Amino acid sequence: MKEVSFLLRVFSMMVLLRFCFSRVSAITCIQKEREALLQFKKSFGTDPFRLLASWSGTNCCNWYGVGCNQTSGHVTMVDLRNNWLELSTSFYIHYLDSSLLELKYLNYLDLSGNNFDLTQISNVLGSMVELTYLNLSNSIFDAKVLPRQLGNLTKLVVLDLSNYFFYNKYAGLKALNRDVEWISHLSSLQFFSLSGKDLSEASNLMQVLSSLPLLSSLILTDCSLQNNQLSFGSMNSSFLSRIQHLDLSSNNFHGPIPKVFHNMTSLKFLDLSNNKLTSTSIDGGVSSFILGNNCILKALDLSNNYDLGGDVFGSYENESMACRRYDLQVLKLEGTSLKTKIPDWLGKFKDLRSLSLSSSHIYGSIPASLGNLSRLEDLDLSNNALTGAIPTSFGRLLNLRILILEWNRLEELGQECFIQLQNLEELDISNNSLKGVLEEAHFANLSQLNFLFISYNEHLLLDVKSNWVPPFQLRFLDASSCIGCFQGAFPEWLRTQNALVRLWLYNTSISSAFPTWLRAQNLIILDLSHNQIVGPIPTSVGDQMPNLRFLYLNHNLINDSLPLSFCKLKILTEVDLSNNEFSGMVQGCWLTSNLMYLDLSSNNFSGTFPYSHGNLSRVEMLNLRSNKFEGSMPSVLKDARDLNFLDLGMNKFSGNIPMWVGNNLGDLKCLMLRGNLFNGTIPSSLCNLTWLTNLDLAHNQLEGPIPQNIRNFYAMTEKLYAGFSFSREADVAFSDYREKSISQFIKSNELDYTMKQLERMVNIDLSHNYLVGSIPSEISKLKELVGLNLSHNNLTGTIPAEIGEIESLESLDLSFNQLSGPIPRSISRLNSLGDLKLSRNNLSGEIPQEGHLSTFNEASSFDDNPYLCGDPLPKKCTTENSFEPSFTNIENQDEEEDKWDKWLLCIVIILGYVVGFWGVIGVLMFKRSLPTRLKTRFIQQSNGA
Ligand SMILES: *[C@@H]1O[C@H](CO)[C@@H](O)[C@H](O)[C@H]1NC(C)=O
Ligand SMILES: *[C@@H]1O[C@H](CO)[C@@H](O)[C@H](O)[C@H]1NC(C)=O
Ligand SMILES: *[C@@H]1O[C@H](CO)[C@@H](O)[C@H](O)[C@H]1NC(C)=O
Ligand SMILES: *[C@@H]1O[C@H](CO)[C@@H](O)[C@H](O)[C@H]1NC(C)=O
Ligand SMILES: *[C@@H]1O[C@H](CO)[C@@H](O)[C@H](O)[C@H]1NC(C)=O
Repeated sequence: MKEVSFLLRVFSMMVLLRFCFSRVSAITCIQKEREALLQFKKSFGTDPFRLLASWSGTNCCNWYGVGCNQTSGHVTMVDLRNNWLELSTSFYIHYLDSSLLELKYLNYLDLSGNNFDLTQISNVLGSMVELTYLNLSNSIFDAKVLPRQLGNLTKLVVLDLSNYFFYNKYAGLKALNRDVEWISHLSSLQFFSLSGKDLSEASNLMQVLSSLPLLSSLILTDCSLQNNQLSFGSMNSSFLSRIQHLDLSSNNFHGPIPKVFHNMTSLKFLDLSNNKLTSTSIDGGVSSFILGNNCILKALDLSNNYDLGGDVFGSYENESMACRRYDLQVLKLEGTSLKTKIPDWLGKFKDLRSLSLSSSHIYGSIPASLGNLSRLEDLDLSNNALTGAIPTSFGRLLNLRILILEWNRLEELGQECFIQLQNLEELDISNNSLKGVLEEAHFANLSQLNFLFISYNEHLLLDVKSNWVPPFQLRFLDASSCIGCFQGAFPEWLRTQNALVRLWLYNTSISSAFPTWLRAQNLIILDLSHNQIVGPIPTSVGDQMPNLRFLYLNHNLINDSLPLSFCKLKILTEVDLSNNEFSGMVQGCWLTSNLMYLDLSSNNFSGTFPYSHGNLSRVEMLNLRSNKFEGSMPSVLKDARDLNFLDLGMNKFSGNIPMWVGNNLGDLKCLMLRGNLFNGTIPSSLCNLTWLTNLDLAHNQLEGPIPQNIRNFYAMTEKLYAGFSFSREADVAFSDYREKSISQFIKSNELDYTMKQLERMVNIDLSHNYLVGSIPSEISKLKELVGLNLSHNNLTGTIPAEIGEIESLESLDLSFNQLSGPIPRSISRLNSLGDLKLSRNNLSGEIPQEGHLSTFNEASSFDDNPYLCGDPLPKKCTTENSFEPSFTNIENQDEEEDKWDKWLLCIVIILGYVVGFWGVIGVLMFKRSLPTRLKTRFIQQSNGA
């Protein structure tokens, strides 16, 4: 945004000026033009802010967005721009009414940010030949019809057709891409923006543009332009010497920076950011480039060319030539691969206002010469490997407003660093290795400081008296993991900070109580997590911080029930109270449709959830694990269609798992109901949860069969890595809550997992219930499962023969059931299997001794299966043991197939004789088994096994 802002500022100023002049209009408008405007008003479909309400009464010169010539009274300007850049706030204009043509003196028309009816763009625009200024940027219009008309507007000085915000996918775009001929008629044009249009096929684009005799500002951001569109041949020399402002950011330029820029001798502003440029093409790098262009360059942006190397700095020291004055004001090289030190000579560019070298792989110490940049307002060196001290010379940067040094390895804080920086608004020295003490004196002159970030400097101390009255009013304070900052007590000086909006004091060793005096009417984010804060939440918290949206108090020792005033926190969006000693009921009054993230796990909350009426229709993550909640499945979740993660584990919830869980909660990725008193059967609707990757129903009282349509768990069958879809505002908290770790039983072990890890852990645990029936053979389709635990149920039948198809399986526990038949040979293909438990069943036959299975030499994996024999069990296999196979699983015994085939035939024949019916079935089964066996063998051969 900053990149565009320079330009935007210039133009909004232009607009404002015109606007101001025209607003104070004493002149009365011309009747005919007034009527034309009223006619135009009728073409407006929506007017969300009712801006056109002022379009009534006689003097149209005073109407919203209308400007008149002060002498003649003619309407010269219509400015209906929608600054909000959102569809919901835009006008919807059905058609451009021909009445506009009555405005014969109209030369300024701004309809940017609005929405036109694509089918109704009339020919009117092309007839408004008096226009000198036309802005249709960020409007949705039909690019197919428009250009041909625009070619008629030969008096246009400014034409803005850029499109940063709306994806213009309409058919006309292709036409614009190929046909740019119309532009050549716009002979008065000085400023032209076509940003956001695919112009990759317009091979003559630059030829056409450079033929415009007055063009000096050209904005072609995000136009899919390629190197070959930028050749010398395509631009005439008068264009090269005239162009002043060129923005080619976000295109497809690659390789060395094309030489053509070196011949643009009037260039003041060049933006080549967000391309794939790798180096400069001329010796001497940026510096010689600036020198070569008569030192008049004011702004150069090469940021986010990720492979751009350090030769952009060149070797200025060796240049004999130097500038008499240095005009460079803005230099942006962030997001590059400079891999050098910061050159000393940067200190010569004394006019620099803004310097960004963030994320550019620079290292070494910061040269003291940067302290010479006395006009500098904005310095960003973050995300590099800078070492050493913050130079004392920084104390001379008296105009500095923003200083960002975060994410480096800076160690020392020069004593005088910030003391004089009375204009400093933002100071970010977080995530360094700074040692030393920040004292009251350091801050004595920083009366403008709003943003202070000192987090993650393990050895930094903040030594201020408890009655310190700082000269500043902070809006943001982040002191997280600044262990030495507060000496164990909540910082008393925050009493004076009434403007706080965001306060992060995560992991600061605070062991006092939650202060009752903290009053921050504007506070939106409060993070006090990972401390040892004791006692209850103050009773009037809801009055003291009514605008709280993000509240993190997790991992403390806070106790007692939530105060009644919590009910006043109606816009809470994320709340993490986990791992405390809270008790009592959870009232529904603060559970509103704003709440998206709620973690109350590991507390002593009790009662039904919520205890009184609440609304969780937009919740995405709900964790109530390890409390004493009771009652049925919370029906407040019935409408929670965005719910991704639900953990009700380790509570006393009871009753059925309702059908609506499967039918309504279609976004669920994790459903954890472990350790409750849920009873009844597992509803088959659960299998509608196609995005589910984690299902934990263990330790309940569920009965009946495992649902047959289990393969509907689509996300368990394919490598989707869909992950959680949390619609979280990106910058609200520094910690991504996918980094948050939560305790879960996966692969039959309880461990802490981050949400991020959990996304990849496809797991089903139905253990410790009363499930009956057989294991659905479809379970073998869940190829992404890493853990499957069906132990401690009453399951019967055989282990599905194709279980070996679950290639990812790392842990399989089927113990404590009544499973019979042989151990399917396919298990030996499970190369990732580290944990196998088949004990306490009725399995029979020889334990297959091949492939990965031969590595399981613990008898405990197979114990207590009376008819099972062979290693690692002490019981050796005799011929009798191997006669135990059940018929349905005959297809597994592929290796000894000859023997088995004979036996099978015999048995089938015998049975066939005994009962004709069985004979038929048996033969059918035999036939069906053949292809499977052949297939298996083929796989084994092709694997070289
Ligand atoms: C306003 O109108 C008068 C008279 O028609 C004309 O002379 C003058 O140039 C116009 N002013 C502007 C700013 O267009
Ligand atoms: C554009 O100008 C041409 C003549 O140069 C004219 O024939 C045509 O009608 C004009 N188009 C519109 C839409 O006014
Ligand atoms: C570009 O500039 C170089 C030297 O500055 C010059 O030799 C060359 O002729 C110029 N090319 C064009 C096309 O103007
Ligand atoms: C399930 O539990 C509820 C409450 O605990 C009980 O009323 C109901 O009878 C139980 N249902 C079954 C099928 O056991
Ligand atoms: C969910 O599954 C049930 C039975 O399995 C089915 O009747 C129902 O139509 C499904 N609902 C949705 C929304 O797919």
